[in-house]
Amino acid sequence: MRKKIIAGNWKMNKTFDEGMALVTEIAGMVKDEYSGSAQVVIIPPFVHINAVSRMVADSRNIFSGAQNCSNHDSGAYTGEVSAGMIKSCGAEYVIIGHSERRQYFNETNDWLARKVDAVLKNNLTAIYCCGETLEERESNTHFDVLKKQVSEGLFHLTAEQFANVVIAYEPVWAIGTGKTASTAQAQEVHAFIRGLVCEHYNNQVADNLTIQYGGSVKAENAVELFSAPDIDGALVGGAALQSRSFVDIVKAMK
Ligand code: 13P
Repeated sequence: MRKKIIAGNWKMNKTFDEGMALVTEIAGMVKDEYSGSAQVVIIPPFVHINAVSRMVADSRNIFSGAQNCSNHDSGAYTGEVSAGMIKSCGAEYVIIGHSERRQYFNETNDWLARKVDAVLKNNLTAIYCCGETLEERESNTHFDVLKKQVSEGLFHLTAEQFANVVIAYEPVWAIGTGKTASTAQAQEVHAFIRGLVCEHYNNQVADNLTIQYGGSVKAENAVELFSAPDIDGALVGGAALQSRSFVDIVKAMK
C-alpha cells in the first residue's frame, strides 16, 4: 500500500521553546481537524528531535524525523550525528540529499548512497531528495539529472530495502521562491521517477513507492497537487513553520 506523507522540514529554524509550541499546536489541530489517512512527519533540527518524538508518541498519525545524518556509525567525526542516534531519539524518518546539502555541503550521489545505507541499517525510512536547477530545466536536461540522482543514490538497494525509501521531488527553482511547479510539471516528473523504479525493480515496488513533491507548497496549491495520481504528499519548508498553514496542507490530503 502506498503511503501518503506530509512532512514539514523546519530547516535551521525555531529555538527549543518555539519548536515545542509549534508541535503542541500542530498535534492539537491534527487531532481535532484531520481524519484522513496521511502520515504527518515533523522534521526539526537535531537538537529538538528527542522532545518532538516524545510529544507525538501518543498520536496515531504524527511522526518525527531528521534533516540529515552521518554515513558513519560512530567515531571521531566532530559535529556529526549518526542514524543510530536519531533512531534512539524516537525518530522514524531521515531526509537525505536535500538540495541545500548538495549545494552548500557538496554532497554527491555516491556520498548520499552511503547515508541511505546508514538510515536503512538503523530501521529508519529515508526521504531521498532529488531535483533539477532552473538552468537544467531550461536546457531540458532535467530528466537526465533526475535519473542520475535517483539511480546513483538508490539503485544499489535491494527491492526489500527499497520499501523503506520515500522519494521527494524538489525542483531547486521552486524551493523558497514562491514559484511552485505546476501540477502537470510535477506529475510528469513523478511519473518519470516511478517509471525508473519500475524499470529497475518491478511494478509492485514502483507502485508502493511514496513520491512527495516539495517546493513552495501551500494550502492554496496543495489540493490541486495532491489530485495528481503520482503525487503522494509533500515535503514542506516555509509553510511548515506555522501550525495553521502546515495543518491546512495536511488537510488537503484526503
Ligand atoms: P519551501 O516549501 O520553503 O519552498 O521549501 C521546500 C523544501 O525545501 C522542503 O524540504
